[in-house]
Amino acid sequence: MNDQQKKISESVITMTELVLPNNTNQLGKLLGGQLMHWIDICAALCSAKHSQRVCVTASVDRIDFHHSINVGDAVTLVASINRVFNTSMEVGVKVFSESFRVGKKIHTNTAYLTFVSLDDEGKPVKAAQAVPESEDEKRRYEEALQRREARLKNRNK
Ligand SMILES: CC(C)(COP(=O)(O)OP(=O)(O)OC[C@H]1O[C@@H](n2cnc3c(N)ncnc32)[C@H](O)[C@@H]1OP(=O)(O)O)[C@@H](O)C(=O)NCCC(=O)NCCS
Repeated sequence: MNDQQKKISESVITMTELVLPNNTNQLGKLLGGQLMHWIDICAALCSAKHSQRVCVTASVDRIDFHHSINVGDAVTLVASINRVFNTSMEVGVKVFSESFRVGKKIHTNTAYLTFVSLDDEGKPVKAAQAVPESEDEKRRYEEALQRREARLKNRNK
């Protein structure tokens, strides 16, 4: 590793939140917007840790809500860099909900976000390459390129 390279594992961020009543709707389920906020924060921390710069959200891919999350559950978010392109990087966030009382953990969402690292003048600046090591990291690294191509194609529509 040199200054232009960093292991993906070095910037993984894990965040756990407790779902409180003011995070929920009338049915006692976690609000989608609240979850999106936590996803954005977790991914922002990951991109900033990797690039050692302030990073801004350039885009968020589609997020599906397959499972509702109840008040009183613990929500754990795990963010890691999938791939760095030039100034931008794809961050993947996996979300798990867990009821300690029931003892059940569910993978509720996966989100992909693009962050851009900025220099001191607020201009996009090249970020260090992220080096995948594990099989999962290598798979995500390959898949990230296909998602970027689709994303940039849609951006220009
Ligand atoms: C994101 C932003 C910095 C891009 O700036 P820009 O002047 O368009 O710069 P560029 O066209 O050179 O793009 C810079 C990088 O962003 C990527 N990018 C820009 N828009 C994108 C989008 N919608 N989706 C994915 N990537 C995007 C480009 O592909 C490029 O990546 P690369 O250097 O790795 O190839 C700028 O649009 C911005 O500041 N947006 C507001 C960000 C914000 O306020 N976010 C919410 C609060 S954090």
